[in-house]
Amino acid sequence: MNSQKSAPSRPKLVPNLSLKERNTFGFEASAELAYEITSPEHVSEVINEVLNKKLPWRVLGGGSNVILPKLLPGATLLMNIAGQEIISSDNHSVLISAGGGVNWHEFVTWTLEQNLPGLENLALIPGTVGAAPIQNIGAYGVEIGEYIESVEAFDAHSQAFTALTKEQCQLAYRDSHFKRNPNRFILTKVIFRIPKQWKARIHYADLAKQFSENPNPSPEEIFLAVCKIRTHKLPDPKLIGNAGSFFQNPIVPIEQFETLLHKYPELVSYPDAAGKRKLAAGWLIDQCGFKGQRMGNVGIYENQALVLVNHGNGTAQDILGLAKCIQEKVHDQFGVKLDIEPNIL
Ligand code: EPU
Repeated sequence: MNSQKSAPSRPKLVPNLSLKERNTFGFEASAELAYEITSPEHVSEVINEVLNKKLPWRVLGGGSNVILPKLLPGATLLMNIAGQEIISSDNHSVLISAGGGVNWHEFVTWTLEQNLPGLENLALIPGTVGAAPIQNIGAYGVEIGEYIESVEAFDAHSQAFTALTKEQCQLAYRDSHFKRNPNRFILTKVIFRIPKQWKARIHYADLAKQFSENPNPSPEEIFLAVCKIRTHKLPDPKLIGNAGSFFQNPIVPIEQFETLLHKYPELVSYPDAAGKRKLAAGWLIDQCGFKGQRMGNVGIYENQALVLVNHGNGTAQDILGLAKCIQEKVHDQFGVKLDIEPNIL
């Protein structure tokens, strides 16, 4: 047996790679230099090289939260670091880790197979484990930030690997230290702490409705219910290109919320930090009559006004044009500014 460690392999480089299948909007896009990243060493190698050559670069995970231009110049790192494992366990919780390239939904499924419930409300969110902390993914009353212990990343500023605690990740609603510092951190591994004590979280309206006659569902039942709701509300990107919610739910001062509520008693909103209220962007857009509308090759999904879709042959420019039109109308009618959620590359 050879006890010597073999030298780490070089990342595979593919020039002019089409990214049409790697972005859920299905936009025609290509990467000038695409590097397949399957180990943390690949990250340091490629980043050192692109920084030396002063090339532009970015990381592409599942491609489910990005708006791609026709050409991505320089280097595109295709994050494919695999693997998940249970690290340790004590009386209260279990620590698990997963590679940045692991598919998110497959990871959630795996945790349930290991009898580690907690992430079932986040089933079927497209994307990768490494992308999850960047926008602090959340759905049906749960945010991933609650379960993150720490993150391992390559810091392009110091050109070294670093570990960030949950506090250092500065997670907020669809936001994080990573999102606020683009082109700095490449997340290679995420460590999660799953409490052993589990409680069903079905207070979110859509889920509460599903379980009105079953107040004590199992994690698997919640998982299946979440999959069912999402499948109905969000189009399958294989059939209609989309990036999930296109706008963030806007957070407004409580005085503005009260004025709006007085004028629109049906206004849908959620509690937020003191003195603030989160409004349902989908409701605001729906009220402006956009649901199901089409503008050339792009449009607004017929079952959910918050989701913009590519009907085929659409481009980043088309989708941003439609987004601008929605932002202006919502601002004119409600005085509320909508922010785009996916990253515009
Ligand atoms: N609504 C309408 N018309 C619409 C859409 C929504 O009137 O066309 C109203 C509904 O009455 C509903 C409310 O708006 O009560 C909120 O809609 P929904 O429950 O569908 O949730 P959301 O606020 O649109 C958020 C997340 C989703 C997440 C769901 C479920 C954001 C931006 N979006 O959507 O996350 O799955 O809650 O928890 O926070 C994503 O970020 O990509 C995403 C899909």
